[in-house]
Amino acid sequence: MSSPQPGIPRHLAVIMDGNGRWAERRRRPRAVGHRAGARAVNVCIDFCIDTGIEALTLFAFSSENWGRPEDEVGALMKLFLNALEREVDELDRRGVRVRFIGERGRFNEAIRARMDAAETQTAANTRLHLSVAASYGGRWDIANAARSLAADVAAGRLRVEDIDEAALGARTALADLPPPDLFIRTGGDTRISNFLLWQLAYTELWFTETLWPDMDAVTLQRAVDDYAARERRFGLTGAQIAQPSNGMPTTGTPSNGLTE
Ligand code: FPP
Repeated sequence: MSSPQPGIPRHLAVIMDGNGRWAERRRRPRAVGHRAGARAVNVCIDFCIDTGIEALTLFAFSSENWGRPEDEVGALMKLFLNALEREVDELDRRGVRVRFIGERGRFNEAIRARMDAAETQTAANTRLHLSVAASYGGRWDIANAARSLAADVAAGRLRVEDIDEAALGARTALADLPPPDLFIRTGGDTRISNFLLWQLAYTELWFTETLWPDMDAVTLQRAVDDYAARERRFGLTGAQIAQPSNGMPTTGTPSNGLTE
């Protein structure tokens, strides 16, 4: 990976919504939509690699999705297991580092073992950092970080007065990556739905009616073009941002995790 490219997000985060409606419109079971959604994941990974996006975070299964009908949860678990069995070697070959964020303990042993193995196999790859949020919730993530801080205080390893944004942020998921520059949600709804609540503070948001299984490089490129045309101010004024000496990184992200 090289220097950040102007107008190209370093980190893209995606809510892949609309699988169910895509299937229902074709009078097919929702599971068919999820399978089509898995194909669109590959389109998105290819796009990131081709465009020079360095990190991709996908919301695959939320903490709340466990409450869906049993047959749909079962179909999704089967799909995750199949994808883990089938796709990891190819991702590895392409230089993709895979990791999972979320409550891994809620998945069955077979899926957990495959997740661990995929992370180990791809740990040294640097072309694309792919994070799959599975049994993940932004509130869970922040609560987890708070619990970790509290445990360190209780054990005498941390003073209460040393708790600040950096200390909490360092214990949230993806702390070793710059926060997402661009967030995309497909499927027409314009909300964040408990995704990366902490990490999205200054992320540019982009919404499309396109259903996730129909996602293609043209639509992804539209999102990136729109992102490139935006002025990111991070709470400063437009004039300050225009000053080269304002100390802001060009992507607005700390230079952690990804190679400068
Ligand atoms: C939301 O669409 C999508 C999901 C809950 C599942 C996402 C899973 C995939 C894209 C497939 C596999 C992913 C990986 C990483 C292998 P929805 O069902 O809420 O759609 P709807 O709003 O139309 O009902």
